[in-house]
Amino acid sequence: MSKSTLGLPLEYSTLHKFYDALCAGDIDSKNNLIETILKKYHVQTVLDLTCGTGSQVFWLAKCGYKVTGSDISPALLAQAREKALQEKIDVTLIDGDMRTVKVGRFDAAITIFNAVGHLTKTDFEKAMQNIHSNLKKGGLYVFDILNLSAMTDEAVENLAMDVSKTVDGITIRNVQYSTIDRETGRLTSYDSFTLQEGSSEPQILTGEFTLQIYTAQELTEMLARSGFKVLEQCGLDGAKFSDHTTTNILTVAQKL
Ligand SMILES: C[S@@+](CC[C@H](N)C(=O)[O-])C[C@H]1O[C@@H](n2cnc3c(N)ncnc32)[C@H](O)[C@@H]1O
Repeated sequence: MSKSTLGLPLEYSTLHKFYDALCAGDIDSKNNLIETILKKYHVQTVLDLTCGTGSQVFWLAKCGYKVTGSDISPALLAQAREKALQEKIDVTLIDGDMRTVKVGRFDAAITIFNAVGHLTKTDFEKAMQNIHSNLKKGGLYVFDILNLSAMTDEAVENLAMDVSKTVDGITIRNVQYSTIDRETGRLTSYDSFTLQEGSSEPQILTGEFTLQIYTAQELTEMLARSGFKVLEQCGLDGAKFSDHTTTNILTVAQKL
């Protein structure tokens, strides 16, 4: 299986046990919005092709949807499996690459939290075609990605973070900043992690990864080439989409 050439955050592998603390903090409003959309279109079965530790999978399962999650990161999937076991939640979790995994025919497919940004444009088109084949006719594809048209210098600066969390007695501080190449639509984030356990010497790790981001128009054209029609685009807060001010595009597309 070919790997993404864009690089992946350390929280998906080496630092997987910190993923939930560092990355999955403020998800309730996003999950609520996704659920409202799925309900509006009478969805019953959902395939989350980038489920990670299960931020959407468990939320949707608790709302009564029949959910299957798949992901390329064995470390994050292992955490999702552990949660399913501990909380006795009936979900199917499988190892898979969103570009190729074949699971069945669902009412809706989702890839949430900039997940498709980890793919090159060519690979995202492959993923769209694969998602198309995992959907019933009329099925929905719901995903979010940062909006290239809204990535002013100020917006890129606002993505910077400096966050500290403690997990299993280890305090991790993550300092991140990003830069953008507007020609290619690639946003590169630079991470530094400092891990401190008790009074031992702190351990410092650095990493970088790139997200391919898009304009709303580009997404609409790519989706059309893969057999989808865009039904809605809005912000992650559900607000009306505005090309130059909405920082994340939530797209609801339908398989034709
Ligand atoms: C930012 S995380 C989002 C996870 C989850 N949806 C959430 O909101 O917490 C992006 C996820 O995409 C997964 N991913 C990246 N490339 C992938 C690929 N080619 N196929 C499947 N999953 C992939 C990563 O392993 C990671 O779990």
